[in-house]
Amino acid sequence: MKIGIIVGSTRQNRAGKQIGEWVAARAEVRTDATFELVDLADFNLPFMTSPVPPAALGKQYPEPEIQAWSKKIDEFDGFILVTPEYNHGVPAAFKNAVDVLGSEWMKKAVGFVSYGADGGVRAVENWRVILANFNIYDIRNAVSINIFTEMSDGAFSPNERRAAEVKDLLDTLVPAARAMATLR
Ligand SMILES: Cc1cc2nc3c(=O)[nH]c(=O)nc-3n(C[C@H](O)[C@H](O)[C@H](O)COP(=O)(O)O)c2cc1C
Repeated sequence: MKIGIIVGSTRQNRAGKQIGEWVAARAEVRTDATFELVDLADFNLPFMTSPVPPAALGKQYPEPEIQAWSKKIDEFDGFILVTPEYNHGVPAAFKNAVDVLGSEWMKKAVGFVSYGADGGVRAVENWRVILANFNIYDIRNAVSINIFTEMSDGAFSPNERRAAEVKDLLDTLVPAARAMATLR
């Protein structure tokens, strides 16, 4: 089992990178799966302009950046989306990164680590609706980080409950990813 921990914020001075690194450090000590931190910003994805829905392209993407993204996402059985909330929804660059692919997301499992003034929970509920299109199993356990109390002077300082919440998330996500692999 291989789980991708995707940092979905690409803006300058983003909080997401630190949060993703903290989650990855908690995950990497486990032996029930392998984990990899994936930084969306590294892929420099173009906005989706495909004349046909990307899911209909059979992974034959003309753009080299999207080919590299496809190859990376294909490696995983499950994902943790490390997602901010922008204007009460999902960030556009992260949604675009989902939209430019197709079957790479299908029948896998996903969990969420979100952050925002209200823990980013509106973005997570938004993601659950979107990802249903891929027959992804979205697990209930989530980690919802409050940027006012857990980010200070640009430094992430998680409250004491977060490590246990990440463990609960992974304890559910890894078996879910294993179960979904039997459907592919
Ligand atoms: C375009 C934009 C819209 C935002 N909208 C929300 C919002 O609706 N709810 C919220 O809790 N925070 C919102 N924020 C604040 C973010 O939670 C905060 O800036 C956070 O650090 C963003 O994650 P990032 O730094 O990883 O990009 C918004 C930030 C930006 C840049």
